Amino acid sequence: MIEIAIDGTAASGKGTLGKKLSNKYNFPYLDTGILYRKIASYIIKENINNTSDLEKQCCDFAQNLILEELKNENLRTEIVAKLAAKIATFPDLRKILNNKQKEFNKINKKKYGGCILDGRDIGTIILPNADFKFFITASLEVRAKRRLLEKNISFLHENDEKCMLLNLINNMRERDKLDSIRKISPLVPAKDAYIIDTSLINAQELFFKVSNIIEGKK
Ligand code: C5P
Repeated sequence: MIEIAIDGTAASGKGTLGKKLSNKYNFPYLDTGILYRKIASYIIKENINNTSDLEKQCCDFAQNLILEELKNENLRTEIVAKLAAKIATFPDLRKILNNKQKEFNKINKKKYGGCILDGRDIGTIILPNADFKFFITASLEVRAKRRLLEKNISFLHENDEKCMLLNLINNMRERDKLDSIRKISPLVPAKDAYIIDTSLINAQELFFKVSNIIEGKK
C-alpha cells in the first residue's frame, strides 16, 4: 500500500500534480486545503468572523464535514484563502481535521492500494511514514501569474492586470509567511522529502519528474 504526501506553497503546482498522479495510479486524492477553505467560507457566509468563540464555531462545523462531499466545490477566492490561513493556526481545529485526513488515507489505502494527499503538513504530521514525500515550490512571481491565469479573465487592461498581479503577490507572500511561522504544523519540507522548484518547469514536466522518482527511474 502506497502513501504519497505532497506539500508546498500556494499555486506551486501541487494540486495539479496530485490529480495527475491520482489518474495515473488510480489512488484517491485529497486536496486538504479545501477543508480549511470550506470552514473559512462557512465563517464568512455566517458572518461570525469576529466572534469571541471563533475556534469553537470552526470546530463544531468541522466535526460534521464529510470529505467526499467537498470534492467539487470551488472555494478558491483570495478572501477565503486568507481566512483559511488564519483558522489553520487553531490547534483544536487542526486536531479534528488531522483525524479526518488520516481516516481518509486509512480507508482509501486499504480499498485502492494507495492514497495521495496534498497540503502543508502532510509529510511532517499527517503521513510521517509516507512512501514518497514531495515538497513543491516556485518563485512568488511565477505562482501569482499562474493564479491569475486560473482566474480565466478574458480581457484585462494592462494596468489592471499589473494591479491584480501585485495584489496576488502580496496575498501569497502574507499567506506563505503565516503558514511557515505558525507554531503548529508549519509549512516546512519533511527531512526526507524531494524538494522540487517548478519556476522553470510546467505541470507535465513536474508530473514526469515525480512519476520517475516513484517508479525508481531516478
Ligand atoms: O492549499 P490551499 O491554498 O487551498 O490552502 C489554504 C490554506 O489552508 C493554506 O494557506 C494553509 O493555511 C491551510 N492549510 C493548512 N494545512 C493543510 C492544508 C491547508 O494549514 N494541510
